[in-house]
Amino acid sequence: MLLPNAIKHSYRLALDLRECDYSTFYLGKFSTWLLSLFCLFCIKIRPIGTTRTNSKYTTFPRFVTSLLSWVLGLKPAISLISQKLNIDCYKVDSDSYLSLPTETVLIDWHRDSAFLLDTENIKIKTGRHTYKFFVYLNPNPFSFRREGSSTSEGGKKPAEGALSFIPCSTRFSRAVDSAIFHDFIPFDGDHSLEYLVSRVRDILDEMDRRNLQSFFGLERKEYIKFIDTANNVLSSGLGLSSFFTTFPVDPGRVVVFNGRTVHRGGATGDSQRLVLRFITTGTRLEDTLFYVT
Ligand SMILES: [Fe+2]
Repeated sequence: MLLPNAIKHSYRLALDLRECDYSTFYLGKFSTWLLSLFCLFCIKIRPIGTTRTNSKYTTFPRFVTSLLSWVLGLKPAISLISQKLNIDCYKVDSDSYLSLPTETVLIDWHRDSAFLLDTENIKIKTGRHTYKFFVYLNPNPFSFRREGSSTSEGGKKPAEGALSFIPCSTRFSRAVDSAIFHDFIPFDGDHSLEYLVSRVRDILDEMDRRNLQSFFGLERKEYIKFIDTANNVLSSGLGLSSFFTTFPVDPGRVVVFNGRTVHRGGATGDSQRLVLRFITTGTRLEDTLFYVT
């Protein structure tokens, strides 16, 4: 294996993902440089789309995804993570994008895999789990600047961090998914954090009505605490806060997270970012079960 970073960290990754929904580690300098060069080359020669932030964007063919997964040691890492989290039949897709500097939030607080008003879609999404590996790379691999300078033009301030998470929020996303899937609460919006808070309130109301102590393995006080945390996060604005975690997105950093975690794509400041993204999707059958006490 050429770059066994993910394998080296896989046991800790699996534990972190199980405990708080995300983890991080670094690639070596040479690996970062090589991958940066490769992804920039692909962005030049592959069909290019643009994201809603107008960043350049390209997807990789299947064989390149497999090659990159192998080179980065993702396959055994994902295998261990899947084993620890009881996820079956996973598959991996990858793409890369060059994110342009922005002072505004790219995407506000939300979780992925929200329901669409479609029964089949609800069935499929309830058991499906997505893990994202964001590999931050250098958009200027031939520009060798001093340590500590920004990834854009020298002298400009680097971004504080452009990826934030609410720790342990996945279990509330999963509870909402299960509640909607089993008609415990009616279907309604559940993508943004504001909507998620409303659905958690629906769960609490239904627990009151049925005189239940817990739903989906979570007690009343835990749902109430999540609502308090979420309200604090929403009122924290754009800056850093003790209610959520923000990672600096410096080249070489890999951030791994469960797509159901509540997260925010923040402003990149003056930094241009090249991101290689692996999306691993598998099935977690226990999420399709209905359990209350
Ligand atoms: Fe997202």
